[in-house]
Amino acid sequence: MCGIVGYIGGQQAYPILIDGLKKLEYRGYDSAGVALLDNGELHMVKSVGRLCELEDKIGIGCPYGMVGIGHTRWATHGRPSDTNAHPHSDCTNHFVVIHNGIIENYQALREWLTSLGHSFRSETDTEVLAHLVEHYYRGDLKSAIRQVMEQVHGSYALVVMSRHEADRLVCARKDSPLVIGLGEGENFIASDIPALLKYTRQTYILDDGELAEVTKNDVKIENGNGASVEKPIFNVEWDAVSAEKDGFDHFMLKEIHEQPKAIRDTLRSRLNDTGVVLDEIKLTHDQVKSLRKVVMVACGTAYHAGLVGKYVFEKMLRLPVEVDVASEFRYRDPLLGEDTLVVVISQSGETADTLAALRLAKEKGSPVVAVTNVVGSSVSREADQIIYTWAGPEIAVASTKAYTTQLVVLYLLALHLGNLTGVVSLSEAASLVEELKLLPSHVESILKKEHELLEFARFISRWEDTFFIGRGLDYAVALEGSLKLKEISYIHAEAYAAGELKHGTLALITDNIPVLALATQPALHEKMWSNIKEVKARDAYVMGIAMAGDKGTHKEVDAIFEIPATIPLLAPILTVIPLQLIAYHASVLRGCDVDKPRNLAKSVTVE
Ligand code: AGP
Repeated sequence: MCGIVGYIGGQQAYPILIDGLKKLEYRGYDSAGVALLDNGELHMVKSVGRLCELEDKIGIGCPYGMVGIGHTRWATHGRPSDTNAHPHSDCTNHFVVIHNGIIENYQALREWLTSLGHSFRSETDTEVLAHLVEHYYRGDLKSAIRQVMEQVHGSYALVVMSRHEADRLVCARKDSPLVIGLGEGENFIASDIPALLKYTRQTYILDDGELAEVTKNDVKIENGNGASVEKPIFNVEWDAVSAEKDGFDHFMLKEIHEQPKAIRDTLRSRLNDTGVVLDEIKLTHDQVKSLRKVVMVACGTAYHAGLVGKYVFEKMLRLPVEVDVASEFRYRDPLLGEDTLVVVISQSGETADTLAALRLAKEKGSPVVAVTNVVGSSVSREADQIIYTWAGPEIAVASTKAYTTQLVVLYLLALHLGNLTGVVSLSEAASLVEELKLLPSHVESILKKEHELLEFARFISRWEDTFFIGRGLDYAVALEGSLKLKEISYIHAEAYAAGELKHGTLALITDNIPVLALATQPALHEKMWSNIKEVKARDAYVMGIAMAGDKGTHKEVDAIFEIPATIPLLAPILTVIPLQLIAYHASVLRGCDVDKPRNLAKSVTVE
């Protein structure tokens, strides 16, 4: 996610751009830049770091101009740097672009444009857009951009400004949000409403494929076929704070609901008809063949993702997998070496123990793959190879979209390694890929049933203790569900391997105590149902999570929530969604600070 702003009107643009970018910093904050046109002259300033560093760089002599664009970045392609910051311009500096999204075919476009003589300055996917506009421009900016839209694959919300046509901005969107704010003798463009509220509440919300030509007195919108569109004005009722959360009450709920897009973005350009495309992984066939073990190291939710990864890797690659919390791994003198692949997982890429584990693994000669959500983070800079989750900034302390996209990356990595060594057949890979592609819509259908979980949350919120039980992959997800509940509702939640209950914990099962039973694994259903009977016999109140079509679980539990049917191996990505929602609503019901729970920080950068 990135923050985009544009202005055209009778005021100096710079203060409006900076103010808008400040309202959008939650969408990305690793670098920023502005570009303005003043009497045909282009003024562009970009800086790595937070917006304040851009302001410091600009100093008191702010650039003049009554038309301008600005961008605050969340890097996906190209580490955070002055050069990679947006805006990006073409060879002639006549076209300037800002962009939010992922241009999937940017490499091919970059090669083609280079062969035509274009010279690139940055490592970003976005810069190809500026050179494409230059290539297609024949005196009409809008039609040049229309041709660009036909060439690029992927997602974009883009704004283009040109010295040739300084009286307009042209913007377009596909799969990334873009809104136009309507003023008197001035108009605004932004990726999100918060950037506009200080100036206007009258907006056009662009739809996919639409392109808009914005002057200070007019907004012309066209659809994907070039036909003009009369859009209704959307009057924004939200206040500034709720607008940052897209109308959701908390960032956590917003981020739970962003998971379909986060999963789609993380899968984007990494799947083709035959399997997985993971160019980030440089491990050779022989290196993978020589592996004797995989170790996954992380903390908290990322550790729970590693537990799912263990099942997936061992099932698909038939390789032993150890999973360690980083704070233990780094002090147990682990057996490592070039035959042990170490997979380090960290949303922030700054967790001290996880970073230390990465360094230890490298010191001991193990190949290291990092899975992280932050481009340019310490983990991403020190790992041999990196696979990014493209979840966008995760603001809430409780990790949600990072977890599900970490799982997606682990499935992709297992498939990639399996394809490399042949242990995963093309037909197995193809069927798994087909199911992976369905995950975003499966998550969407779960989110549409959020109301069914309110009763679960209400029941649980009245207790100080709750148990999560499951077997196999469901046990790994039960651990994540219990962490979600305890860290934001302060209920003592404990996850247990269902088969282990009778070895002690059953003593804690008393009258009506809430038990969440995860039963998504058909091969373990009989065993799981008998474990549910065990706790029912002690008068627990059991809420079940099962797959649609499951004919048995609903008979064993007091209440049930069904997730869409999928390959059992992929179930964790779906099973966790109701658990996230239950934790969220229980926390709200208990009046807790959902986004900033007591005693916790978003990134634990100390031991
Ligand atoms: C998850 O909800 C917690 N906020 C916490 O456990 C977190 O997952 C852990 O601190 C690891 O963070 P990282 O992924 O940024 O390394």
